[in-house]
Amino acid sequence: MYTEEMLESIKKVEATRPERLHTEPRRLNAEEKDELLRQWHPDYREDAFDTIKIGPNKGQKAPKQLAELLHSNSRLYGMNIDLSKVDYDTDVLVIGGGGAGCSAAIEADNAGAKVMIVTKLRAGDANTMMAEGGIQAADKENDSPVQHFLDAYGGGHFAAKRELVEKLVMEAPDAIKWLNDLGVMFDKTPDGTMITTHGGGTSRKRMHACKDYSGAEIMRTLRDEVQNRQIPVIEFTSAVELIKDSKGQVAGAVLLNMETGDYLVARAKVVILATGGCGRLHYQNFPTSNHYGATADGLILAYRAGAPLLYQDTIQYHPTGAAFPSQIQGALVTEKVRSLGAQLVNKDGVAYLHPLETRDVSAAGIIRECKGRHEGVTTPLGDAIWLDTPMIEQLGGEGTIEARIPAMLRMFLQYGIDMRKVPVPVYPTLHYQNGGVEINAECATSIDNLLVAGECSGGVHGRNRLMGNSLLDVIVFGRDAGKSAAKRAASVELGEPTLEHVTEYAEELEEAGLNTGKVSPLLLPKYARHAREYEQRGFQFQ
Ligand code: FUM
Repeated sequence: MYTEEMLESIKKVEATRPERLHTEPRRLNAEEKDELLRQWHPDYREDAFDTIKIGPNKGQKAPKQLAELLHSNSRLYGMNIDLSKVDYDTDVLVIGGGGAGCSAAIEADNAGAKVMIVTKLRAGDANTMMAEGGIQAADKENDSPVQHFLDAYGGGHFAAKRELVEKLVMEAPDAIKWLNDLGVMFDKTPDGTMITTHGGGTSRKRMHACKDYSGAEIMRTLRDEVQNRQIPVIEFTSAVELIKDSKGQVAGAVLLNMETGDYLVARAKVVILATGGCGRLHYQNFPTSNHYGATADGLILAYRAGAPLLYQDTIQYHPTGAAFPSQIQGALVTEKVRSLGAQLVNKDGVAYLHPLETRDVSAAGIIRECKGRHEGVTTPLGDAIWLDTPMIEQLGGEGTIEARIPAMLRMFLQYGIDMRKVPVPVYPTLHYQNGGVEINAECATSIDNLLVAGECSGGVHGRNRLMGNSLLDVIVFGRDAGKSAAKRAASVELGEPTLEHVTEYAEELEEAGLNTGKVSPLLLPKYARHAREYEQRGFQFQ
């Protein structure tokens, strides 16, 4: 599967491996990291961003593709949607069927609220499902939430909202217990102790995992719980606009049945946006580790309704996306591979960067090694760095890869690459939206009765997220959003429903001279087979 040139390079990697088994590059100091990021991290490429021209974040920058969606009109603009014809009536409407959405629905149900989930694909088609390496929680004797706070807050460049980080770390041990009690099969030693490992930027081993399919296992459990509780889940149905009311609060959403093209009205006392990330917008043409529906829909819906975003300009490029072969280009190669001992090595077999720097630093380091120093290995698809996976077996013993990261092993074996014997080529992949809709510690936005949880929210991770804090975020903030929504719903009196904000937004666009003729949210990536089919049937997707 590898080219002659790659095989020649592997000989050099093998030659340096015996010495590297006992040594690793030093960690960079703060100044070195800042310089590396400034020069090589994609967030610093001025030409990849546009200035937002209308709305609460006017004057701030956003990735070009996101700015274009923010500068687009609603699908409903100019349409006559009868809001008095209510198709669904509920206390709590959860938009998104991933980890945050399901956690929210479970807790809202637990608190006695009438709750339903709408999701544009199937329940569980979400970035949670794709998460591999694990979930952080300081629940061991040598660790504490304070330590976890310092790691997460520092890793996010001291930019996160402190009250959100505090909630994240303080509620982490209970989140693990909750998942364990629901039936998540965490990795444990024979006496039942949770096995924990390091992630990039962690000062303690606090990554709890289910081998390397942690997200799939967590999602399985949450989805089962939603099903067991008979919480209604409306699949293949997108939210295309929030409904507000005469009091200025959120009062539900207009939905699009993706199969029939019909618009539906969902009236709700509280709406929780849990729509996830943005990877399928492919900022700067990066491939992505994200699931098919990750098109930043929640940001668009909330923004058009008037809610500010926070750190919409900061994106996480996971350092190790598969770089070859094409069938898996951009797929996640979990950070756990480096936690287990694999180093990042250039074409000459030099380990040029500590394997567990924080993600932004690691990604920038790979880009510099390839594009700046020209020390990357050339694959048929472009530049890459070797992830020296045979080291794992040599450090941890034969069988470690199969036992601890079986999904990785299987993914590469499908293409004839045995990562136990040869290194695998990696390059950064668009992985996570660090920012999103600004929330407070109750998951509330600036608009009454609109809550946000999970990757769609902004402020929890500052300008860079650590591994394992996303699965944690969706559980902690998803659960809290559900509880908080149920409590609010008990006292909400809805006014007259309206889509006036859609018209106002169109007017603002007009005044700003923005008339792209495009509509948002995107719902499906441009290349989606369904998007093309829908367009042929007369629906506008772009
Ligand atoms: O590398 C990983 O397994 C990814 C984890 C995460 O994004 O938290």
